[in-house]
Amino acid sequence: MADQQTAVLGVWAGRSTFILAAAGSAVGLGNLWKFSFVTGEYGGGAFVLVYLVCIALIGIPIMMAETALGRQGRQSPMASMRKLARGSDVSRHWSLLGWMGVLTGFLILSFYSVIAGWALAFTWDLGVGNLRGFTGEQVGTHFDALVADPVKLTGWHTLFMVLIALVVARGVHKGLESSVRVIMPLLLVLLIVLLGYSMIATDQFGRALSFLFSLNFSTLTWEAVLAAMGQSFFALSLGMGAIMVYGAYMPNDASIGSAVMTVAILNSVIALVVGMVIFPIALANGVEPSAGPRLLFVSLPAAFGQMPGGQIFGTLFFMLVSLAALSSSISLIEPLVAWTVERFLMSRVVAATIVSALIWLMGMGTVFSFNVWSGEEYQCFGMTVFELLDFVTAKIMLPLGGLLTAIFASWIMKRSVIYKALNLSLARFNLWRALCRVIIPVCVCVMFAVSLYKALT
Ligand code: TRP
Repeated sequence: MADQQTAVLGVWAGRSTFILAAAGSAVGLGNLWKFSFVTGEYGGGAFVLVYLVCIALIGIPIMMAETALGRQGRQSPMASMRKLARGSDVSRHWSLLGWMGVLTGFLILSFYSVIAGWALAFTWDLGVGNLRGFTGEQVGTHFDALVADPVKLTGWHTLFMVLIALVVARGVHKGLESSVRVIMPLLLVLLIVLLGYSMIATDQFGRALSFLFSLNFSTLTWEAVLAAMGQSFFALSLGMGAIMVYGAYMPNDASIGSAVMTVAILNSVIALVVGMVIFPIALANGVEPSAGPRLLFVSLPAAFGQMPGGQIFGTLFFMLVSLAALSSSISLIEPLVAWTVERFLMSRVVAATIVSALIWLMGMGTVFSFNVWSGEEYQCFGMTVFELLDFVTAKIMLPLGGLLTAIFASWIMKRSVIYKALNLSLARFNLWRALCRVIIPVCVCVMFAVSLYKALT
């Protein structure tokens, strides 16, 4: 059997590489775009609290489990799961978990790429000065014109998919680490500049803070709790094997606990700071917090239109959003590409091209959701293709994948094996195990049961 250190995929130089790659995967449209708009839709503070509780009690333990499984397996998620299942004397059908992850990644990326295309479009528009001096309302009209135009949307979606294919075809490891080293710090600096702007230049900072942080449980429905849970999986890239892939490259002596905590905290801080930037600007420009998927795209350009140097900051900001989306997309597509290479003995270039083309095709469903297929006759359960994909992935497939990962790591694997794999102190290990064995299954199953009940009644 292969020596653990010279595993199939090779091992990264140090702990920081895992952190960088996992952060590159985690930080993306989920924090920069989705977090604020779902917070806005579900009424603010109480939603944020439930989200943070989900990150702490569900997200972090599952992320540790996924990393540990990846490091034990040292292969693609499917192969790792098969190997670990064999090692634990249980059915090799556990490798289906890897398959479900590949499918989830495929579905998520199909709409993710369309939204990332919006970010590319805004990078361009801000860069050439198309939005100079626009008010919130004018940016709104501009946004509506963009999404109403299937040709333009297809163009930007295509460009983004081509970028992904190019990066993935060349192999993930070389580019990823160094680009994340540049993107993350720049993003943080820019967010702090923007935070300064929304504190000083809008008079809505206090109102926005109280929206984000004051607890009003009357707005908290079961639906909101489910959304918060789904968002915690989506934001941390959990439940589909992306983190398992990166765990497979982690050196044996690196501490999983502290690496995972670092990523989870960085990720949540970014989401909250983005919220503190977006809501004051939105309120000051007459954009409702419940504006939905357009929130980021309508509120920020209005602020850039008014602030000194806004054209440069605005272009840079949307460029960073696009790059962060790119590094997340790579973790969504990589398991599928790796498997295609393995299974069909293709070159990476061919595999990346075919897989990207298929995802691109699927993405057309999302492109049309905003225009030609937006009518009710094209909807399923009252949702457009885009909404349906978002619902099925974030609220069903990721929680299910995460649940199965937690169950496998805490109930199926031998205690001694997973204890060694996680390399935690005994007290922390016991806490992790209690969360994975009891709390996570109970929470996820209750959520599923309640949603099913609500859907049926
Ligand atoms: N976490 C990323 C974001 O917040 C999206 C993402 C990348 C993802 N890889 C994933 C979500 C795997 C779920 C599973 O934008």
